[in-house]
Amino acid sequence: MNYRHAFHAGNHADVLKHIVLLALIDALKRKDTPFSVLDTHAGRGRYSLHDDAAQRTGEAEGGVGRVLGMPAKAAAITRYQQAIGACNSDGHLRIYPGSPLLAAMAMRENDRLSCREAQADEARALASLFAHDRRVHVQHGDGWAAIKALLPPTPRRGLVLIDPPYEAQLAEFDTALTTLTEGLRRWPQGVFALWYPIKRRRDLQPFLRAAAKLSAKNILLAELLVRPDDSPLRLNGSGMLLLNPPWQVDAELAAALPELAHVLGEAGASQRLEWLRRE
Ligand SMILES: C[S@@+](CC[C@H](N)C(=O)[O-])C[C@H]1O[C@@H](n2cnc3c(N)ncnc32)[C@H](O)[C@@H]1O
Repeated sequence: MNYRHAFHAGNHADVLKHIVLLALIDALKRKDTPFSVLDTHAGRGRYSLHDDAAQRTGEAEGGVGRVLGMPAKAAAITRYQQAIGACNSDGHLRIYPGSPLLAAMAMRENDRLSCREAQADEARALASLFAHDRRVHVQHGDGWAAIKALLPPTPRRGLVLIDPPYEAQLAEFDTALTTLTEGLRRWPQGVFALWYPIKRRRDLQPFLRAAAKLSAKNILLAELLVRPDDSPLRLNGSGMLLLNPPWQVDAELAAALPELAHVLGEAGASQRLEWLRRE
């Protein structure tokens, strides 16, 4: 496995993913009963934007850097700005929080987070980040297998974030669909959020057609393209496939996506929010 998230932390794809993640968790917090979060591809939880990897790509500058500087109207964006600000309290953007840290910061005392990470050094860093947080459980291992091993979770209400590196390209879309099918079988009422890359849209069509047939009652797509989706070589944008999204998350994303496309996009940027199924 070659993928290292440190090169990409805080890029436009992380911005979309983490805005959606926070909106989902905040929606779960509208009820008092505790919830569970499973982060199947968790990463190391915290990234220094001053280290070599981040400096080499400069991706965070064109992502979180721009979003922090924008006067946002959408509540989902101001919520994200506040979360990033809390990790950089002196006002300088040095640290980028990964999905497990953002989730843990948003969770309450009785909510629970389980994380899987396949790379030993990343998993070690994540375990040490949460060494003193009893709400969080970190495992070094395969995130796909966590769906079988850990669902349904206790508490039985909650969310699964699936954020694979897609190193195996299209094969990983198939794995994602099989895993989501299994996840819904085990936990039909769970909220599932799968991140996916967008290079060339037409390559995505078989995946989206299959996603529309998953057994969730409601299926929503949120996509952000920072340039036209016509090159197979670049990450032109990304999307979140949301199964059973909580009430009102669609409205929050509808407000946020156009602002994000405006601030993060080059010529030809676009966004899309679409129900693949709605009951
Ligand atoms: C895109 S990064 C995750 C970023 C993280 N979710 C976040 O938002 O901060 C993907 C992670 O998955 C890990 N990974 C790759 N294959 C995996 C597998 N089969 N199971 C668990 N983790 C895996 C990689 O080491 C990498 O850290």
